[in-house]
This record gives sequence, C-alpha cells and structure tokens, in this order.
Amino acid sequence: MSKLFSKIRIKDMEVRNRIVMPPMCMYSSDDTGYPNSWHFIHYATRAIGGVGLIIMEATAVEKRGRISARDLGIWDDSHVEGLARIVAEVKKHGAKIGVQLAHAGRKCTAPDEDLIAPSPIAFDETYGVPREMTKEDIKEVVSAFKAGAYRALSAGFDIIEIHAAHGYLINEFLSPLTNKRTDEYGGNIENRARFLKEVIKAVREVWPEEKPLMVRVSAEEYAEGGNHDVDLAQIINLVKEEGVDVIDVSSGAVVPAKINVYPGYQVRFAETIKKMTGLFVIAGGLITAPEMAEEILQNERADMVYLGRELLRNPYWPLAAAKELGDDIKWPEQYERSRK
Ligand SMILES: Cc1cc2nc3c(=O)[nH]c(=O)nc-3n(C[C@H](O)[C@H](O)[C@H](O)COP(=O)(O)O)c2cc1C
Repeated sequence: MSKLFSKIRIKDMEVRNRIVMPPMCMYSSDDTGYPNSWHFIHYATRAIGGVGLIIMEATAVEKRGRISARDLGIWDDSHVEGLARIVAEVKKHGAKIGVQLAHAGRKCTAPDEDLIAPSPIAFDETYGVPREMTKEDIKEVVSAFKAGAYRALSAGFDIIEIHAAHGYLINEFLSPLTNKRTDEYGGNIENRARFLKEVIKAVREVWPEEKPLMVRVSAEEYAEGGNHDVDLAQIINLVKEEGVDVIDVSSGAVVPAKINVYPGYQVRFAETIKKMTGLFVIAGGLITAPEMAEEILQNERADMVYLGRELLRNPYWPLAAAKELGDDIKWPEQYERSRK
C-alpha cells in the first residue's frame, strides 16, 4: 500500500487517503452567496473521483469580505441549508469535507462594499484604497468568523480552514508589508499575529475540540521585507495553542510579486513549517504525478498533498493514481465495469 492511499486520522476526522482538493473559488454564485447546482455537481464529482479531503472554496464570513460578487457566503443563517446539501452528498461518496472561512479585506472586488484592512494601502492601482480598521471593526470581524464557524458546524463540515493566506484580511495583518499599525495589532510579530489568534480563539469557542481546525498560510511573500517560511512558522507557534491542528501551506499574493513556479515549488515551505511547528501539514503547488506525491509523503516532508488545477482537469485523478501506484482501492460501484 502506498502512503498516498493510506488513511490518516486528525482528531475525530479519518480520511481515506492523503489526497486533498484545496479551496478553489468557482465564482459561480450570485449576490446572495448561495451555492447552486454548479457547486453541488463540482464537489460531489471530486468525492466520487476518490479525493480524501475536499476543502470548499473561499466562503465569505461577511458580505464585505467577498473576493468577488459571485463568492459563496456563510454570513447568514440562510446559507446553511445549501452548504449542508453539498456536505451530505460529498460524505455519501466517502470523502471528508471542510470549508474555507474567508474575508477578503482590501482585496474585495464586489462593488460598493466597505473596503477594510489593517492599514490604508491598496494592493495595486486596480484596487481601491481600504479604510484602516478600528478596534470596533476588528471585534466585528472576529465575531463574524465565529458565527461562520457555528454555521459550518450546523452544515456538518468535518474541518474548518481559516483563510490566512494570499493577501486577504488575516494575511494583511500578518505581513509587515501590509500592516503598518502602531497599536497592539501591528509592529512586532506577536502583534501582527494577534488578529489571527483572536479569530482562532473565537472559532474554537463554537467549533468542538474534537474536530480539527486548519489554517492556510502564504509561507513566502516573494518580496523584500515580507514574511518567509520561518516567520510563518513562528507566527503559527504563537497561535497554535488556541487549537490549531493542521497547516495548509501556500504562498504569494500578499503584494504584487513575481513567483518562480515549478512542480512542487512550495513543498520546501511546508517542510520548514512541519519541522518548526510539529503540526500536520498539507503541501502542494503544481503537483500532478502520483510518484511525486508519494515521494513527498514517504520522505515526511508533509502529511497530505493537495492538487488544485490537476483535479479541475481530472476529477478522477485519485482512481488513476491508485492504479499507477499499484493500490487496490474501492471504486464507485457504478464505475466498476470501467476499471480494467
Ligand atoms: C480557479 C482557482 C481558484 C482558487 N481559489 C482559491 C481559494 O478560494 N482559496 C485559496 O486559498 N486558494 C485558492 N486557489 C489556490 C489553490 O487552492 C492552490 O493553492 C493553487 O492552485 C496551487 O495548487 P495547484 O498547482 O495544484 O493548482 C485557487 C486556484 C485556482 C486555480
């Protein structure tokens, strides 16, 4: 049995293999933030295809926290019903499912929204200049994450991922390039980590201890003066006692910067974070070959791997990967006759 197809248990969540579908915005809802048949088919198909853990796309905890006007939402109790339908269908096909709780901050592009950020600096000339958040704003957003977590629990998700990557609101607090505050939320690394810590703490007030909690980070900002993997590991060590179990390692999009991408370009960041924090780590970035995924796991560079664009191209990647690695996994009964 390959490591890729071995089970993993994190708190009360047992996943059938180490294959993760990372959050990928479908921009397919509308101003309501409700999921529709696109989301339902899209996620259920990956579960049928054999993915172990599906993390649903960035889902906004506040309307002003949307990346676009077509994002999914979890800012209102009425969102629970549609999300619960997706969760139930995905679970029926043997996958586990999480939701990425998100707030876009200064990168909200939905029209006529209140653009907020730790400091009044625009991402680039195509974005608006955000308003510097007051302490009241900070409290409000922390409460919105908590309410979102409670709704995620009601919808039946197995895991929550807090979006602290890609230059969205939480990441804007973490980075010295976007956070120029002089109060207790800015300056040294402990202060910059404070907002994330408060969000995790609030989420954990409603998200049961036995359920796993994950944070997604941009472990490299590819810019002078920005955070690197060791800084993120330090930040994680400052907040993990609030109840973090898993780190989903990504990079970039904090400030406009050129990224040199190649297969596995983010794996070394995951490795550093795993070593320095001792938490479960998910690595990814241009992984497409089963052997490559297997190498990362066997060498204990990460505990799970994510495949984003590859799973968009081929939802049945896990079924084919098992064949390539010589693993005899359970296929959907309906597809058995196509197996040979
Ligand atoms: C269409 C698309 C939408 C994405 N949306 C999100 C998102 O909602 N949240 C997030 O954290 N990352 C998002 N990402 C980044 C992916 O999760 C992943 O980290 C990235 O695609 C690199 O992995 P890959 O090379 O396997 O595709 C998105 C990527 C794509 C291609």
